[in-house]
Amino acid sequence: MPAKSQSLRRKLLVWLLLPLLILFFLRAGYNYYYGNALSNRVYDRMLITLASSLSQQLAYAATSHELILPRAAYQILMSDEYDEIYFAIRDTQGHIIEGENRMPPVPANLAEQQQSFSTGRIYDREVRIINLRHTLEHDTYVIQVAETLTKRSLLSREFQSGVILPQMLIIVLATLIVWFGIGKSLVPLKRLQKAVSERSHLDLSPVSGEEIPAEVQPLIHAINDLMARLSKVLDVQNRFIADAAHQLRTPLAGLKAQIDLALREHDPTITLQAIQNLRASTDRMTRLVNQLLALARNEPMAERAFRKLPLDLGLLASQITMEWVPRALEKYIDIGFEAPNTPITLQGDAARLKDLLDNLIDNAVRYTPHHGQVTVSVFNNDRAHLAVTDNGPGIPLDQRERVFERFYSVLGHGAEGSGLGLAIVREIARMHGGEARIESGPTGIGTRVSGVF
Ligand SMILES: Nc1ncnc2c1ncn2[C@@H]1O[C@H](COP(=O)(O)OP(=O)(O)OP(=O)(O)O)[C@@H](O)[C@H]1O
Ligand SMILES: [Mg+2]
Repeated sequence: MPAKSQSLRRKLLVWLLLPLLILFFLRAGYNYYYGNALSNRVYDRMLITLASSLSQQLAYAATSHELILPRAAYQILMSDEYDEIYFAIRDTQGHIIEGENRMPPVPANLAEQQQSFSTGRIYDREVRIINLRHTLEHDTYVIQVAETLTKRSLLSREFQSGVILPQMLIIVLATLIVWFGIGKSLVPLKRLQKAVSERSHLDLSPVSGEEIPAEVQPLIHAINDLMARLSKVLDVQNRFIADAAHQLRTPLAGLKAQIDLALREHDPTITLQAIQNLRASTDRMTRLVNQLLALARNEPMAERAFRKLPLDLGLLASQITMEWVPRALEKYIDIGFEAPNTPITLQGDAARLKDLLDNLIDNAVRYTPHHGQVTVSVFNNDRAHLAVTDNGPGIPLDQRERVFERFYSVLGHGAEGSGLGLAIVREIARMHGGEARIESGPTGIGTRVSGVF
């Protein structure tokens, strides 16, 4: 496995856990805030009740104008099992007339309100204080009741743990579910991997996509598609090897027979004749082998090595035609070249286009009798044309498709070929997105074979 590949399980977990954890912390923060607010609301109400019942108890002594607080009031203030409760009664100047001396001062905002809450410290403990204004026979007092925070933090903590614990549990459960869920979904993939690795290299049948998750199906299709293409390439190669073996065996046997004959012969003229025959056979075999190699090179499946570059078709064709002049002259054939002045450019592979034209000229020169005419022409009408026209025997209409087949030669043309030339021409034309065509010559005599791109 390449070093960069990451575990799907880990990735999914990170993607799931990260948002869950963020949500969890957001929720926890909110819970903290809300828990505090809730417990304050609940206990503040009790604190108000406490302060108002205290205010109800306040009275003046019957004889003097002295403020008295009955014993029952003290009782109310002592009766809490969790928190310390303090109280103070202040006059309008803010002096403490009764109660806890260390009571923090009255908040400024009480001036406009009947009651208000504040916080502070008494004996170094944090307290929540209710400040209540109370009027007794035209005199105004402020009653302060302070309470430590034990009950409040207990309630808030209880609330938080009640909510947070189940959430943590959900996260742990989600992690486990994802962990095992992914493991389970990966089982078919492991099975697939095992099946593929145990396969013979010759087995290119499609891989079964059964039970494979839908997300992985495109990969299976791609693999099967590749398998199908590979199997086609293998078929083509096997066919080629079989053809080549078959085509080479016969001439090789012929060569051997000719050599045996030459060795057995005592008459030097006959031996010389045999050796000359051998030479001709060897030439034919060389041509066959070259044609076979050209065909292999131009198989549709060999397109990997195909490099298209812009080229001037006219220039290329004129150069190749020049190379054929000596061969044509041997048969007193008049070989000509026609092309417009403007270059005809084509995206193509020069070496392959040369193979194509060589085969066309070879056919024309070979099958046209002595003193014939061969013309190579390049022109453009909508598409680029590369044509070779001769005034030879022509190819009968019913043979014009067949001659493109491999190893197919028209009988009776005299010159023995390997029957591969036009097959090669067609492959190369197709590789360039074009086609190969056979027509009669312009006057109905001879042949014109062209590549149209
Ligand atoms: N210009 C032509 N004039 C007449 N017949 C032709 C011409 N070109 C091709 N043919 C016929 O078509 C057949 C197939 O040609 P092709 O080039 O495929 O094979 P080949 O010439 O026999 O062998 P190779 O080119 O592989 O040596 C030839 O045998 C020949 O009979
Ligand atoms: Mg040929």
